[in-house]
Amino acid sequence: MLRKNSIILYDILFIIMIHMTNGQTVKNLTAITWSHATNSQKLLNEVLSSDINFIEADIVFGYLKNDESKTQQPIMAHPPDVESDLTLESFLTQIWDFNKNTTKEKQKGIKIDFKSTDVFTNSISILNKMWNTDYEIWLNADIFSGPSNNTSTIPVDPDVFLTESNKFPNVTLSTGWTTRWGINYTEGIYTHEQVKVMIDGIKKHQKNNAITFPVRAGIAAQSIETLNHLYQSLNATNLVTFTIWSSENDNVNVENLRKMIFHFGLDKVYVDVPANLSSQLRYTNDSSRIHTKQSFVKNIMLNKKKNGKSCKVFFSQQKPFIAQI
Ligand SMILES: *[C@@H]1O[C@H](CO)[C@@H](O)[C@H](O)[C@H]1NC(C)=O
Ligand SMILES: *[C@@H]1O[C@H](CO)[C@@H](O)[C@H](O)[C@H]1NC(C)=O
Ligand SMILES: *[C@@H]1O[C@H](CO)[C@@H](O)[C@H](O)[C@H]1NC(C)=O
Ligand SMILES: *[C@@H]1O[C@H](CO)[C@@H](O)[C@H](O)[C@H]1NC(C)=O
Ligand SMILES: *[C@@H]1O[C@H](CO)[C@@H](O)[C@H](O)[C@H]1NC(C)=O
Ligand SMILES: *[C@@H]1O[C@H](CO)[C@@H](O)[C@H](O)[C@H]1NC(C)=O
Ligand SMILES: *[C@@H]1O[C@H](CO)[C@@H](O)[C@H](O)[C@H]1NC(C)=O
Ligand SMILES: *[C@@H]1O[C@H](CO)[C@@H](O)[C@H](O)[C@H]1NC(C)=O
Ligand SMILES: *[C@@H]1O[C@H](CO)[C@@H](O)[C@H](O)[C@H]1NC(C)=O
Repeated sequence: MLRKNSIILYDILFIIMIHMTNGQTVKNLTAITWSHATNSQKLLNEVLSSDINFIEADIVFGYLKNDESKTQQPIMAHPPDVESDLTLESFLTQIWDFNKNTTKEKQKGIKIDFKSTDVFTNSISILNKMWNTDYEIWLNADIFSGPSNNTSTIPVDPDVFLTESNKFPNVTLSTGWTTRWGINYTEGIYTHEQVKVMIDGIKKHQKNNAITFPVRAGIAAQSIETLNHLYQSLNATNLVTFTIWSSENDNVNVENLRKMIFHFGLDKVYVDVPANLSSQLRYTNDSSRIHTKQSFVKNIMLNKKKNGKSCKVFFSQQKPFIAQI
């Protein structure tokens, strides 16, 4: 958790680091930026030439455009689409090539969302070739039915997903629940039962992978207690984080969502929500002495000129960074 007297270090290269008073350095996960549905060659090109940190994309069992034989294979598309100009294999290879040829800070992470059990099992041979990377790969799937009573979407088989992903020890698992929510929804939480099946499923398959739980903003805002139980139940065996997502126009109690984010801490929660919601979140705790990037840097620069020993200056390979208690 962020404490009032934490040392803050601003990294000009966007991955903002938080220096804690206990000497730990943690990442400000809310600063990570995302692409969405990067399911075509055009979109992939755009994202690779942008500053975005994480590439999000969907995988279905379909076929390549213009493939007369209509051979089924894992392709980048979102249901109901079943064709694409980009296969999973090409998608992963292109990002691999890109990341190999760039600096660590500029490497892109990958979050791929498997839309069915079928496409997941048919992707394993491809993943086998490309999971052991020095950049992050997240395997995402909704593996249980969730709030509020979303029984219309069939989840990916949890046993298959959790067992097979054992083959990829340092890939991050992003396991979630199907959800039903929207502009007119106000009631609904991730229930004790829904959290319990997730905990049991993960424990049963003895996963040691890092796990991030994708939770829908409007529902997560009302589920601190059960999500806390989920976190506590697994944090001894797995590195646990949350990824908050939201659909455009979802009803969200913003103040409760902020409470949820600050409850777990900026180093435990990724936030991937539409701009409108994001702009309301104010990650900076107004009542503590955490400054905005610009005013902070300016202030410390001035302080340093007045009194060289009153503040700390940190150096990285690229540029000096400034921090203060
Ligand atoms: C964390 O990142 C968010 C989003 O960029 C930013 O608004 C916030 O000030 C950062 N907080 C810290 C402590 O670095
Ligand atoms: C690697 O990046 C450099 C600089 O951006 C570029 O000139 C070069 O062509 C790239 N090499 C490959 C194999 O992509
Ligand atoms: C995964 O493990 C390999 C081998 O130990 C290591 O080189 C790589 O950096 C790891 N990747 C991540 C994302 O942790
Ligand atoms: C969930 O939805 C199904 C089908 O619409 C319905 O039969 C069932 O009663 C609902 N359950 C709850 C708890 O709302
Ligand atoms: C059910 O959940 C899935 C996955 O979260 C989502 O794609 C789908 O739109 C949801 N269905 C409804 C009716 O909200
Ligand atoms: C939400 O409720 C309003 C008022 O009852 C209604 O006009 C609107 O169609 C509803 N929206 C959706 C997406 O259900
Ligand atoms: C992780 O769980 C342990 C119990 O296993 C608890 O003592 C500890 O406080 C938890 N860590 C965090 C960061 O919540
Ligand atoms: C942004 O969200 C607020 C609060 O939910 C809503 O009143 C407003 O209409 C939204 N604006 C846009 C552009 O969607
Ligand atoms: C903001 O900081 C104050 C003072 O440190 C603290 O009491 C409060 O709980 C914090 N609020 C949030 C949402 O973290």
